[in-house]
Formats: sequence, C-alpha cells, structure tokens
Amino acid sequence: MKKHFSQTESLVKGLLGSLLLATICAVGARAAEKKIVVGFSQIGAESGWRTANTESIKAEAAKRGIELKFADAQQKQENQIKALRSFVAQGVDVIAFSPVVETGWEWVLREIKRAGIPVVLSDRAVAVTDDSLYVTFIGADFVEEGRRAGRWLAKASDGKAVIAELVGTPGSAPAIDRKKGFTEVIGQYPGMKIVKSQSGDFTRAKGKEVMESFLKSPDAKQITALFAHNDDMALGAIQAMEEAGVKPGKDILIVSIDGVHGAFEAMAAGKLNCTVECNPLIGPQLFDAVDAILAKKKLPKRTQVIEGVFEQSQAAAELPNRKY
Ligand code: AHR
Repeated sequence: MKKHFSQTESLVKGLLGSLLLATICAVGARAAEKKIVVGFSQIGAESGWRTANTESIKAEAAKRGIELKFADAQQKQENQIKALRSFVAQGVDVIAFSPVVETGWEWVLREIKRAGIPVVLSDRAVAVTDDSLYVTFIGADFVEEGRRAGRWLAKASDGKAVIAELVGTPGSAPAIDRKKGFTEVIGQYPGMKIVKSQSGDFTRAKGKEVMESFLKSPDAKQITALFAHNDDMALGAIQAMEEAGVKPGKDILIVSIDGVHGAFEAMAAGKLNCTVECNPLIGPQLFDAVDAILAKKKLPKRTQVIEGVFEQSQAAAELPNRKY
C-alpha cells in the first residue's frame, strides 16, 4: 500500500514538473514573439509625395515584422493630437509623426514624455522650446530646397522674373522654410520679385483654383514665373494655365518641389521646367531609428535626406528610374 502510494506521488510530481516546464517554455516563447509596436500619425493624403511616404512607412514596418498603428489625420492638427494620445493609452513602444504644422505640440509631447514613450519626428519638424521632447528628426532641409528653386529660377530667367507663388499649408514647416530659402536667394536679384502669393494647401485642386484666380487678376499678364511649394500644386496650376490659353513652361516658367512621377511627365511634355527633389521614401531610416532607440543607442538630433534638382532636359531619361 505504502509502495503504491509513493509510486502515485512520484507520478504526480513528474506530471507537475513537466507542466511547469511547458508553462515556462510557453511564456518564454511569447516573450520572444512580442512584436515592436509603433504608432504613426500621418498628416493625410494631400499629395503624391504623401502617398509615397505612407507606402514607404507601411512597407518597411511590414518587412521588419513591426506592428504599425497608423492614423491618417486628414490634414488636421486636432486629429493628430487625438491619435498621439490614443497611442499613449495603447502603450506603444515608439511614437512617430509628421506634424501638419510647426507649433502647438508642447502639451501633447510633454504627456508622451511623462508616459516614457520616445518620439521620432518624420518629414516635418516642430517648433518647441525643449528639444528633449523628441529623440530625433528624419527629413529634408526645406530651406535648402527653397534656395535650390530660387537659384534655378535666377539662372533660367537671367535674374529677371515676375513671380507668382503657390504656398504650402499655412504654418507648416515646408511652407515656412521653402519660402524663406527662395526669398533669400531671389532677394539678391533686383529684377526678381514675388507679385502674388497664396496658399494652395499642397493639393492639386487648390493649386488649380488659386492659379485660376491669379490668371483672372488684372495684372496677370505680367507673371513670367511660378514657384509652387510642391509638384501637386504646380500640376494643378498647369491645368489652370492650359484652360486659360497660357502655355505652361513657356509663357510662364515653372519650378516646384518634390520630384514626383507626375512632375517628370510634365517636364518631359515641356510643361514644367524644374523640380527640386524632396525624398518621401524614408521608411527604412525611420525604422532604423526605432530599432536604435529600443536598443538604447544614441542618435543624432537630425538625419537629413540626400536630394537632387532635375530639369526638363533630364526628365525623359530619369522618368523610368523614378520610384515615386
Ligand atoms: O512635408 C513634405 C511636403 O508635404 C511635400 O512637399 C508635399 O508634397 C507634402 O504634402
């Protein structure tokens, strides 16, 4: 009887031991499987550039097995703030976002910092008094892009141009900085002046609408050049010019920024004169930064994207190589 009892006892012990081992293994496997979770608040889908940027970010997250919580703010800061707060509530590992405008982020960034979640700024910067509110910024030098557009136009017009300007979203970093860089350069040429300047909100529809109103104004005939803060607005303006019987790229020289596929097609067709590149394919750099942050590695405060300038003469050869 005693022997039988101790046999049962060791059987039970053995079973409990294997059960414990199985539980430990399962917990370990689950921990190893734990995915990195990143919350990304995107501005919207206002331009071809933005669509390419979204695709780059989504594709890179998928490639790396990162869980991406993606929120489209439809170009509204309040929607971005809501999304950022919801990422905090969900306890994501890292928050990244492309701020629609430069100011108004201090409060929410402080909340995120208190929650201990690192922030990466993607594409656009913020104006904050405390730069410890974000870890790093990845994007372009918008001031330099504006300068490049100004230099190109100064050369192409021999320093003489009556310019209409299609401005990006008011208060956004690219609109502020591109204008700054462009005016800095043309300020060196007494024969170059901006006579019209209005926001087209970085969209093709608004770019067309604003150009239509420029062309209807009594002094429209003076305009010899257009500087559009992005290609989409330039493409809309090209349509407006054609409908008004003005030859885009000939009657009015056009320089814009981004380097999207549509801009290369317009250049190849002789309707756009120059596009200054702004590279949206920053998904790989963004997730390299996420990995580095989670590995507790030190990152530079700014990582700049390398970009070029393309003219009509290069368009046809360059078109097949364009990735966005
Ligand atoms: O922030 C980058 C700018 O935003 C791009 O030039 C424009 O096309 C986009 O909407």
